Amino acid sequence: MNAPRVDVYLTHDHADRSLRADALRGLTSSPKWLPPKWFYDKRGSDLFEEITRLPEYYPTRAERSILDAYAGDIARRTGVHTLVELGSGSSDKTRLLLDALQGEGSLREFVPLDVSETALRDAVEALHTDYPALGLHGVVGDFTEHLGHIPGQAPRMVVFLGGTIGNFFPKERATFLGDLHNTLEPGEWFLLGVDLVKDPAALVPAYDDAAGVTAEFNRNVLAVLNRELSGDFDLPNYRHVAVWDAENEWIEMRLRATAAATVTLADLDLQIELAAGEEIRTEISSKFRREGIERELTAAGFSPDSWWTDPEGRFALSLARAT
Ligand code: AVJ
Repeated sequence: MNAPRVDVYLTHDHADRSLRADALRGLTSSPKWLPPKWFYDKRGSDLFEEITRLPEYYPTRAERSILDAYAGDIARRTGVHTLVELGSGSSDKTRLLLDALQGEGSLREFVPLDVSETALRDAVEALHTDYPALGLHGVVGDFTEHLGHIPGQAPRMVVFLGGTIGNFFPKERATFLGDLHNTLEPGEWFLLGVDLVKDPAALVPAYDDAAGVTAEFNRNVLAVLNRELSGDFDLPNYRHVAVWDAENEWIEMRLRATAAATVTLADLDLQIELAAGEEIRTEISSKFRREGIERELTAAGFSPDSWWTDPEGRFALSLARAT
């Protein structure tokens, strides 16, 4: 009864082709760049979990404290039948919402969506053990491509936690919000976790920790390229850089070549040259203000409903309703 179901939209071949296309585009651009989604192989996902426990990395704890305090309010306001999580990973924090929605008596189904099939299947299995009565319908997909395939009975609430929306550039964010709005019926809900603009003295160490875990996480993208595309990046030649861009209000992570290098990616028949000191941009992590993100939500067709922050005002959950 109630056996979990998993739909796979992202085949191994699809992931492989998009990695090739991204590496080719990004590494032949000037300045060079790589998309952050390629951090997250098994090693990268483990390193990210380690980051969330670092003293300097506050977003995960801050968001959890908001969910601890307000999951009941969110459940009462929304009373949804289906909870959908984009980029669900282990669905750890989401259990606070599942518990609250089960307490409300409205919840029938949970739909986690993630690019990693192994992470998704592990999460679904663990959830099935702990929530045997809950319908589980996993989707292996990319939230920039497969929003049209979100299943589940209305009313649904889509949650996008952790501040991952910060990885989008403003234009990509507008596209994402518009696409999401298009998949929802009027009256359905969107709960968004956003990291807030704050003193760079607190922001920069969150992306450049004393123990060097973020540096290793950053360099891991080169290990992924070495393995998947037969590359020969010499990892120790790349220094982790995290800078606060005050104008754009985002943290930018880069890898700086400490010496000139010629790198071969054999599977792409590609050779790239890096000058000493040249940087590859690997991630932006945008920080938000309430008025800005609510304006963007409104422009995409949502009506902002509620706003909660942790006691220190570092992170926020924004609840909006599709119109
Ligand atoms: C998973 C995208 C929310 O931007 O804070 C953590 C990723 N990068 N440390 C973030 C990340 C460096 C994280 N997100």
